[in-house]
Amino acid sequence: MTLNRLSRLATIAVLAVLAACGEGSKAKLSVERSPFGVLPSGDSVHLFTLTNANGLELRMMDYGGTVVSLKTPDADGNLGDIVLGFDSLAGYLESSPYFGAVVGRYANRIRKGTFTLDSTTYTLAVNNGSNALHGGIKGFDKVLWHAEPRQDTSGVSVVLTYTSKDGEEGFPGTLAVRVTYTLNNQNEFVVDYHATTDKATPVNLTQHSYFNLAGDGSGDVRNNVLTLDAETYIPVDTTLIPTGEIKPVASTPFDFRTPVAIRDQISKEDPQLTIANGIDHTFVINRTEPGLAHAARVVEPTSGRTMDVLTTEPGIQVYTGNFLDGSVVGKSGHVYRLRDAICLETQHFPDSPNQVAFPSTILRPGQTFTSRTVYAFSVVER
Ligand code: GLA
Repeated sequence: MTLNRLSRLATIAVLAVLAACGEGSKAKLSVERSPFGVLPSGDSVHLFTLTNANGLELRMMDYGGTVVSLKTPDADGNLGDIVLGFDSLAGYLESSPYFGAVVGRYANRIRKGTFTLDSTTYTLAVNNGSNALHGGIKGFDKVLWHAEPRQDTSGVSVVLTYTSKDGEEGFPGTLAVRVTYTLNNQNEFVVDYHATTDKATPVNLTQHSYFNLAGDGSGDVRNNVLTLDAETYIPVDTTLIPTGEIKPVASTPFDFRTPVAIRDQISKEDPQLTIANGIDHTFVINRTEPGLAHAARVVEPTSGRTMDVLTTEPGIQVYTGNFLDGSVVGKSGHVYRLRDAICLETQHFPDSPNQVAFPSTILRPGQTFTSRTVYAFSVVER
């Protein structure tokens, strides 16, 4: 073949790729795997970079199923990383307050780390005062998941799988868990959860990204305008365990039924805000039928970024970074302080295994747990 013909073929190949992308300047759906360090066990950790056709980029690792960075455009089209975290694996191993991780087997708290199921009393690993929090000492945020990248015409995914052993952190039953992260061309980050068990067990899974829509390290989120599709919320005792009541948000600082700046509600006097040092409460999502329901909207006025959260779960834990106290130094040396992020953790209600009036979290052999949450990103019209 002549050089001339070779170069002509090369040009045609480049043009074909550009045509497939739409425009030459546009990003293209892709998912790439790269090394991200080694665990003390000697196991290798991998980073997956998911990019959609609009240039949004989500980076996640197989350790903890952790979202490491998420870049979305602001109202001027500038990409910025909107989640807190660390530059390298070491930070996640040292002191991460669940930054970006999958949380399970039971997200949130179980009172005194114990519950009775089918006449057997189980004792869990206790790791939060007298309570079990987020799956125990070594929850799903601290295990290495098996990760498989996938791609189709509408999105790119990473399928995470993990088998939690019978008795792990005190939970009964071998739990086979699958969590699929998808970044699609509608600028949505979709999380699909799937689990089966060989013995009855409580299951409550969530995603624990710390969002700051103005950008990681840009200060606090008090100016974020929050809307929650919730008429009621779940008050807690001094150890952040539900009292058992489900209370109307009306006439309380937990009323986000119409858009309101977090600052305007959180600065009010309320015993529940005092107990939690802010909001660290489950809101009961308004729901008329099963399926995806709109749960929350965050608007960041400076950048113009918005995020909508939709879920099949009954609740959403809103956490206003109440334990961030400047002791964690994250990406690019950013010091994370009180209210530097908001977590919107879709889930069942805390302590459900001990609360008969709450929707059941018990998964039995032969049943399949499925759940979906969508984080949809956009910008305000200016
Ligand atoms: C959840 C809990 C909080 C806290 C954070 C992580 O939001 O409800 O109390 O544990 O996770 O620090």
